[in-house]
Amino acid sequence: MARPSEEASFGDQPQSILRGARSIEATMSPQKSFSARVIVIGAGVFGLSTAFAIAKRYPATSVTVIDRLTPPVPDGTSVDTTRCIRSDYTDPVYARLAKLAQEKIQEDPDLSCHMYQQGMTFVCDGEPSRFTDIYQITLDRAKSLCRSEDIIEMSTREEVYQRIHGKMSQPPSDGVLGSRPRWNKAYCNLEAAFIDAKEGIQVYYDRCRKLPSISFRCGSAVDHINITNSQCKGVTLDNQTTLSADMVIVAAGAWSNKLVYLGGRQVPVGHEVAWIKVTPEEEARWKNMSITTNLSTGLNMFPPYQGEIKILRRSPGYKNTVMVPHPEDRSRYIQICFPRTMVSNPTDVIPKDAEAAMRENLREIMPALANRHFDRTKICWISTTPTADFLIAPHPSVDGIHLATGGSAHAWKFLPLIGDYVVDSIEGTLPQELAEKWAFHKVSTGKDQSSPRMDGEPQELSGVVRHHL
Ligand SMILES: Cc1cc2nc3c(=O)[nH]c(=O)nc-3n(C[C@H](O)[C@H](O)[C@H](O)COP(=O)(O)OP(=O)(O)OC[C@H]3O[C@@H](n4cnc5c(N)ncnc54)[C@H](O)[C@@H]3O)c2cc1C
Ligand SMILES: *[C@@H]1O[C@H](CO)[C@@H](O)[C@H](O)[C@H]1NC(C)=O
Ligand SMILES: *[C@@H]1O[C@H](CO)[C@@H](O)[C@H](O)[C@H]1NC(C)=O
Ligand SMILES: *[C@@H]1O[C@H](CO)[C@@H](O)[C@H](O)[C@H]1NC(C)=O
Ligand SMILES: *[C@@H]1O[C@H](CO)[C@@H](O)[C@H](O)[C@H]1NC(C)=O
Repeated sequence: MARPSEEASFGDQPQSILRGARSIEATMSPQKSFSARVIVIGAGVFGLSTAFAIAKRYPATSVTVIDRLTPPVPDGTSVDTTRCIRSDYTDPVYARLAKLAQEKIQEDPDLSCHMYQQGMTFVCDGEPSRFTDIYQITLDRAKSLCRSEDIIEMSTREEVYQRIHGKMSQPPSDGVLGSRPRWNKAYCNLEAAFIDAKEGIQVYYDRCRKLPSISFRCGSAVDHINITNSQCKGVTLDNQTTLSADMVIVAAGAWSNKLVYLGGRQVPVGHEVAWIKVTPEEEARWKNMSITTNLSTGLNMFPPYQGEIKILRRSPGYKNTVMVPHPEDRSRYIQICFPRTMVSNPTDVIPKDAEAAMRENLREIMPALANRHFDRTKICWISTTPTADFLIAPHPSVDGIHLATGGSAHAWKFLPLIGDYVVDSIEGTLPQELAEKWAFHKVSTGKDQSSPRMDGEPQELSGVVRHHL
């Protein structure tokens, strides 16, 4: 669901960032001393990409990847039927990195066979608002980055509708809708694609397993990181096993703030996702449609894939408040938000208001599906940062802990690159502009435009979640 990812607040970046982005192509980094034993907590996009990058650059380093579950982890944020691969970010840094990442995915036959380049359409209502502003910035960026024949603009509601349903179709009339139409204005970027995210993670898991310096410990969670005198010693698993290491890399995504104190730098937010089964005739009819997303309502809809259409919504989202020991002073407790998922709570069904909002969107853009049964739903947890910038940095106060998280709603597409940046960050060779962008004490300016949510505060999930029997 990549939303228009980026951050206008950064404005035009100095060229040096773009040079930095390219420099990872030259993977010959100076042979520095590197930790002998590294533990990576988490086997999602950040953890697997990082383990792989360490093994390539430092084959003598022993890397242990720990996950609660075996990859592809069913409730991991990186694991899903589909993820968008796109580069038309308003932030020129992510735009450049995303372009490079997409090229790498395309050149990688194990990944590219799971990618479907059908374009992505961004729709807005055209009314003056920050979403319409983001739409305009994203469109301008897409035009500057992509071949003009890959950008298709739609200026009326009819054109937006016909791009999905065919030239002869007509959108539902205002009377039928009972509300103002909001899917009014759009552009499609034909360069964008979607990928089978679960398969992509499987590819990286298999790749890591083949390397002799990487081992996996899956099935137990890390209970805590052992911190002694502000120095990281290793980890203790929830089955009481302790493992020592010279460095621990926290790549635990939305779960990270139980392992390290992150304050407001990264907060998990849950978003609703639903799958609707389509008939073989419908699958054939909509086969070529693009990923279609309404910036204004936050609804994102994928083309039919394996007999179903996935929809999700960038709502204000959900939180799940729990008390945990303070990671750096386990004698006192703190309140954090922590994922509540289909693994921890298998009977959860998305809240009623989420379903209602999804159906309202469908009535306008996909009327045939508006009342169709949801085959299954889930809350997908995102490690959200205030500006949607990642968190790739040393721990601010504990030696030997490195943070590799904060993917927000847009990090999947960087799978082939992100681990190299994490290793650069550990080495201290990350270009300064990227180091500042992903720092712990990042100066936060302006609102997130990289993966903007609708306005409003997350609701406490336990109060609104429903259950199936
Ligand atoms: C609905 C939705 C749509 C998205 N759409 C897109 C998109 O279209 N394009 C895009 O590029 N990005 C997208 N993203 C964002 C992208 O999926 C994430 O940024 C990325 O997957 C985050 O990866 P991660 O490695 O940080 O997290 P994860 O994949 O969640 O990995 C963290 C791992 O850590 C493990 N773990 C946690 N705690 C512990 C512990 N204590 N001990 C052991 N293991 C632990 C977990 O089991 C998990 O496997 C989307 C996200 C969501 C939720
Ligand atoms: C604890 O879990 C780890 C990882 O799953 C496993 O390797 C280890 O054998 C387990 N230890 C015990 C005592 O069960
Ligand atoms: C933490 O590490 C120290 C030093 O290795 C060790 O003595 C201690 O037992 C460890 N504590 C825990 C809780 O793992
Ligand atoms: C999908 O695209 C292909 C290739 O352009 C075309 O041959 C086919 O007719 C299209 N199908 C539909 C249902 O639009
Ligand atoms: C589409 O997005 C607009 C904002 O651009 C929003 O106001 C509207 O609610 C969304 N459309 C629908 C059908 O929800």
